[in-house]
Amino acid sequence: MKRILTGLQPSGTLHVGNYFGAIKPMVELQGQGEVFLFLADLHALTSTRDPAELRQFVREAAVDLMACGLDPERTLFWRQSDVPLHAELMWILGTVTPMGLMQRAVSYKEKVEKGIAANVGLFTYPILQAADILLYDADLVPVGKDQQQHLEMTRDIATKINETYGGGTLKLPDAQISEAVAVVPGLDGQKMSKSYGNAVNLFGDEKATRKRVMSIVTDSAALEAPKDPAGSTVVALYRLFASKDEVARMEDEHRAGGVGYGDFKKRLFGAMWEHFAPMRARREEILARPDYVDDVLAEGARKAREVGGETMARVRKAIGLD
Ligand code: TRP
Repeated sequence: MKRILTGLQPSGTLHVGNYFGAIKPMVELQGQGEVFLFLADLHALTSTRDPAELRQFVREAAVDLMACGLDPERTLFWRQSDVPLHAELMWILGTVTPMGLMQRAVSYKEKVEKGIAANVGLFTYPILQAADILLYDADLVPVGKDQQQHLEMTRDIATKINETYGGGTLKLPDAQISEAVAVVPGLDGQKMSKSYGNAVNLFGDEKATRKRVMSIVTDSAALEAPKDPAGSTVVALYRLFASKDEVARMEDEHRAGGVGYGDFKKRLFGAMWEHFAPMRARREEILARPDYVDDVLAEGARKAREVGGETMARVRKAIGLD
């Protein structure tokens, strides 16, 4: 059975784009192997400076993931900072990582261009990510295309360790790059993203969610006029929630004219609201038992320390610390 590991950086309230792009694929990994999933709060420190916000993002991510189907009985689920071994292994990996390798990191440059402070933590982010993966002898790491370089770096760093201290010290993981992950359009038709301000939150209340959906940008075609379904953000979003037949009907009604965008948006809202109903119910259950999340994360951390501890013992021995 393959060990599949991935991390989620908790950096804000989850939206519908996160759900289809990251959460749903993660939840669907369950049953395909031995799944390890952690909340990368040490990584999140490179982008938030607000302790209350960080605490809230971590908690929300834990609750929301479980609401969306993450099953802690089947998946090892923990918070990165509860397992100090991540940081310990990172230091060791850093001592064999060539500067040149880090200097080629694209995501670092992109983040600095976006205005994030160029601190050392941001620069060494990929080494911490390598430690996250190598600590658990992961076989497969499913990530988006933007993380491909970080996975290559992870393999390079593991190779360095093995060349320096003996093959078999660390296991080389394979990346599983998801090409076909749905790109979810936001209210303005661009990719849905928190930073574009065009997102619909996954667990917003009914009134706020309806209002967001009703504010989708459309062209100004009159009610009677035919409309282009291919250019309609409403149709693109509806496709995520409705059956083939329902989508075909909405497309036909676009082409025929006689139905306004307001009607289409109401129908979209209805389908979206219903789609997430079971997850909202599950979320309410989880929120009603505040200790539940703490217990799950504590138990996850305990097991993660056990598994990671074995790798760490091997590494310490190989490099001369034990
Ligand atoms: N860098 C990843 C992202 O931004 C999050 C992450 C941290 C991660 N550590 C990881 C993903 C280890 C996979 C494996 O999405």
